[in-house]
Amino acid sequence: MEDAEVLLVERDDDGVVVVTLNRPARRNALGKALVARLRETVAALGSDPSARVIILAGAGDKAFCAGADLKERREMEPEEVTRFVGALRAMMDEVAALPQPTIAAMDGAALGGGAELALSCDLRVMGPAATFGLPETHLGIIPGAGGTQRLPRLIGCARAKELIFTGRRVTAPEAVQLGLANRAAAGDAVEAARQLAAPILTAAPIALAQAKRAVDEGIELQIDAAMTVEKRCYDVTIPTEDRLEALAAFREKRPPVFKGR
Ligand code: COA
Repeated sequence: MEDAEVLLVERDDDGVVVVTLNRPARRNALGKALVARLRETVAALGSDPSARVIILAGAGDKAFCAGADLKERREMEPEEVTRFVGALRAMMDEVAALPQPTIAAMDGAALGGGAELALSCDLRVMGPAATFGLPETHLGIIPGAGGTQRLPRLIGCARAKELIFTGRRVTAPEAVQLGLANRAAAGDAVEAARQLAAPILTAAPIALAQAKRAVDEGIELQIDAAMTVEKRCYDVTIPTEDRLEALAAFREKRPPVFKGR
């Protein structure tokens, strides 16, 4: 029944790429075909300098993503489950390792693997009907694609444990208060994500990639080692044309035009 359209990729002229999980009848659940397409797409976008900011979204307003496809799961032998969860985990890591800034735009539910996908992004925006939850312990499993690791790094252990132990779903205002979401959108989350992307698009691409790397690598280290990571990332920006362009633009009192070089 399923075709290549399980994932839609839409490019704006300004470099924003909106990647939409497109299985609304299954609430954009992560099935094998969708995971494979998403991994291919992420690999291609990662080496595409024309993709400046990547927004992940879900088709329809009911769900960003309802997590693993539980109907497909029912048909799987235990070894296949292990293999598939391995692919899910790899997919989340590949999303997290994208050099560009990424934004999860959540309209509707982000549950289980859907919540973990949102956690793999740099920033999160939630619409009025969005919910975020990790119900796995109530399904006899645990979050298996980064939920037990990325959530405590984002909001702290006690808050993360509460959400993982209870499976409670949080809505946008609470998510913002927890530091889990960057914005509670008044309307469409993708539109709000585009607004969040706008001032990112005027930054220098190499600087953005190095800033992302400095934060992501540094946060895992002791401060001394993390400062060395920051220096290494800063050093990458020194020989760039964009750094010199920013200095010239300052002197000439005009906005810089960055080329990502
Ligand atoms: N895998 C496969 N199919 C799913 C699914 C999933 N994770 N989540 C929803 N669906 C399917 C439903 O089975 C239903 O199919 P049907 O029309 O053939 O019966 C369809 O999507 C619509 O689901 P429904 O529950 O009626 O939609 P809703 O808009 O009222 O609620 C959710 C949406 C996401 C809140 C709800 O479907 C839900 O809680 N899903 C389970 C999520 C979950 O526990 N994921 C954790 C995985 S670890």
